[in-house]
Amino acid sequence: MAKSIDPDRWCEGRVVDLRQWTDKLFSIRVEADVQSFIAGQFTKLGLIVEDEFVERPYSYVNAPHEQPLEFYFVTVPDGPLTGAMTRLKPGDAIWVMRKPTGFLTLDEVPDARHLWMLSTGTAIGPFLSILKTENAWQRFEHVVLAHAVRLASELSFSETITSLNDRYPDRFRFIPFVSREDTHFAIRARIPVAIEDGRLERKAGLQITPEQSQVMICGNPDMVKATQAMLQERGLTRNRRRTPGHLTVENYW
Ligand SMILES: Cc1cc2nc3c(=O)[nH]c(=O)nc-3n(C[C@H](O)[C@H](O)[C@H](O)COP(=O)(O)OP(=O)(O)OC[C@H]3O[C@@H](n4cnc5c(N)ncnc54)[C@H](O)[C@@H]3O)c2cc1C
Ligand SMILES: NC(=O)c1ccc[n+]([C@@H]2O[C@H](COP(=O)([O-])OP(=O)(O)OC[C@H]3O[C@@H](n4cnc5c(N)ncnc54)[C@H](OP(=O)(O)O)[C@@H]3O)[C@@H](O)[C@H]2O)c1
Repeated sequence: MAKSIDPDRWCEGRVVDLRQWTDKLFSIRVEADVQSFIAGQFTKLGLIVEDEFVERPYSYVNAPHEQPLEFYFVTVPDGPLTGAMTRLKPGDAIWVMRKPTGFLTLDEVPDARHLWMLSTGTAIGPFLSILKTENAWQRFEHVVLAHAVRLASELSFSETITSLNDRYPDRFRFIPFVSREDTHFAIRARIPVAIEDGRLERKAGLQITPEQSQVMICGNPDMVKATQAMLQERGLTRNRRRTPGHLTVENYW
């Protein structure tokens, strides 16, 4: 039997729609009366799957001022929750944790000239939430958003990227990475490799330095670790509340 779901912690939301981007990538929009969050934070989604309540963390993709709530997910082979999420229909119930959590937010990031946001896969989501708020644009001269995926078809959210480009043509740089096929527009490499050989900075037309840069990194934990190590060699340090540095990170698993 499913364990009982605490109504103080969980809100029963309703699916508004499910958008399928590829065979494995989906956006789900949900109406739910949750507490307000800071852009970049995550919550948890839960469903009863085979009599068990299964819950997992998911980042908000919508900005805090936007409704409905939006989440971007990849189906994991044999993943208990993601398989069930792909079968949801408009009007179905989905549980959303009321209280948000997470520190991948601009509140944790000191001022600098340039903000770099480095993501793999579905971890572009929290960065889009942040970039849909005014905060980043009030605080940083340039914002570079890198999105690393295996195939070009996995570069979702082109409408959002285009609208950011239109709004901030001189200040926003979107750098796609496609690692498993050639394209005429993307870097074919992994993020840490393209930092080491200078391709990322050449494409952005900016340099990553401790004096000028803040870097947020999110997604595949091996990418996070390798990227962080690469940037630490250049003198960038982890941001801690008592000792501000330059790197703010979140692992997705
Ligand atoms: C803070 C935080 C925020 C997260 N936000 C998101 C989000 O916005 N979107 C999202 O899709 N996932 C996100 N995740 C991962 C998510 O919570 C689940 O792990 C994932 O959706 C799979 O759930 P599952 O039950 O199907 O399989 P699980 O048993 O949870 O995962 C099995 C394995 O699949 C791989 N995996 C898990 N998540 C991903 C992923 N996103 N991309 C590639 N491989 C993955 C890992 O190897 C993992 O060990 C987040 C995780 C954390 C910790
Ligand atoms: N079973 C597992 O252990 C496992 C692990 C990861 C993903 N998956 C599954 O694979 C599917 C797709 O995942 P995804 O493509 O969204 O995520 P992903 O495997 O994290 O790939 C996204 C991007 O990150 C790159 N990357 C992978 N490892 C890296 C590292 N160590 N350092 C730097 N960059 C790295 C990939 O490059 P490359 O193309 O060079 O790898 C790719 O460009 C999902 O279904 C997921 O569940 C399974």
